Amino acid sequence: MLILKNIHKFYGTNEVLKGVSLEVKQGELVTFVGPSGCGKTTLLRLIGGFTDISSGDIILDGQRINDLPPNLRDTRICFQNYALFPHMTVAENVGYGLKINKWPKHKIAARVHELLDMVELQAFGDRMIDKLSGGQQQRVAFARALSLEPKVLLLDEPLSNLDANLRLVMREEIRKLQERLHITTVFVTHDQFEAMAISDRLVVMKDGLIEQVGSPIEIYERPANEFIAAFVGYVNFMDGRIESIDPVTRNTAVSTPYGTFEITLEQDDIRTGDDVLMVIRPESVSLSIDCKQGGKNILCGSLKTYMYAGSLAKCTVMIGEKKMIIDQYNPRDAQHFKLADKVEVEIPRSVHLLKKK
Ligand SMILES: Nc1ncnc2c1ncn2[C@@H]1O[C@H](COP(=O)(O)OP(=O)(O)O)[C@@H](O)[C@H]1O
Ligand SMILES: [Mg+2]
Repeated sequence: MLILKNIHKFYGTNEVLKGVSLEVKQGELVTFVGPSGCGKTTLLRLIGGFTDISSGDIILDGQRINDLPPNLRDTRICFQNYALFPHMTVAENVGYGLKINKWPKHKIAARVHELLDMVELQAFGDRMIDKLSGGQQQRVAFARALSLEPKVLLLDEPLSNLDANLRLVMREEIRKLQERLHITTVFVTHDQFEAMAISDRLVVMKDGLIEQVGSPIEIYERPANEFIAAFVGYVNFMDGRIESIDPVTRNTAVSTPYGTFEITLEQDDIRTGDDVLMVIRPESVSLSIDCKQGGKNILCGSLKTYMYAGSLAKCTVMIGEKKMIIDQYNPRDAQHFKLADKVEVEIPRSVHLLKKK
């Protein structure tokens, strides 16, 4: 549906997009995510036609749209601040694009009715914008963006002005509506957890480049590099070297300063002799009291902090000089852990490995 080909964008001599290529499928929700300033908004504005492209191509449904003004593109953008018209009612805001496109009055009324129904603002058509809550304004902006049935919907941090609870509710609503309408959507957020929760695929950006494109599971479980691994959640990194790989079972021995671990290798980019970084997620490690020396993938450590928070306990364990963060879910034995000093840490067989350059 949408193809970006080697897109570069300069502001003066400052190159803020450094060759971005991506294909978005019909009906897909794709999220640009990355630290502030990495170029997400710029890329979204380029697609919408609000910023000129320096070089590269944007293809929408087979047509090159680089030079079309925003209103002639089959895209609609929802800006971060909603950009609603304060002197108009909800219905007038939602129907604005239809009026500009010279729809007859009765057809506008019918379409606005349908859109307000869709975002559950049936009763609010005559309200002025400043008499709405943040969440309601968000829905108006969303309905207005959908009014002309664009081929691609562009959403720039649509939830960032809402409080935390409403953000969760609205993100589910957006996702449900997007799936129901099967509308191709590009979503921008700096919030990696929001991105994981809402997207079919994430596009992780850094400094004007795409670092990785993948489903939430791929990005979290099989990050392409250290930056991505650490961006989508906490990681305990551990240096290692591949000692052996069994070609049949894929049983793999990884030697580290803390002993040799056995894992099941699922990647095919790793060879015997490679230096690697083990990506050990806090929730993947199991923790128990005391320590039986010598078990497979077992390390003995001392418990430095234990923070009980109901559904989980956050723990810091020292393995010699090395600090490991471990999330213990369903911490039924909290009392015992609080008093424990020696603990046993089990490294999972499923750890992901990053090959060192
Ligand atoms: N109109 C502009 N003029 C000059 N520089 C800009 C302009 N808009 C954005 N930039 C710069 O481009 C980079 C990317 O910005 P932006 O796309 O807004 O990032 P993000 O949305 O990921 O936070 C930043 O370094 C920002 O300062
Ligand atoms: Mg931005």
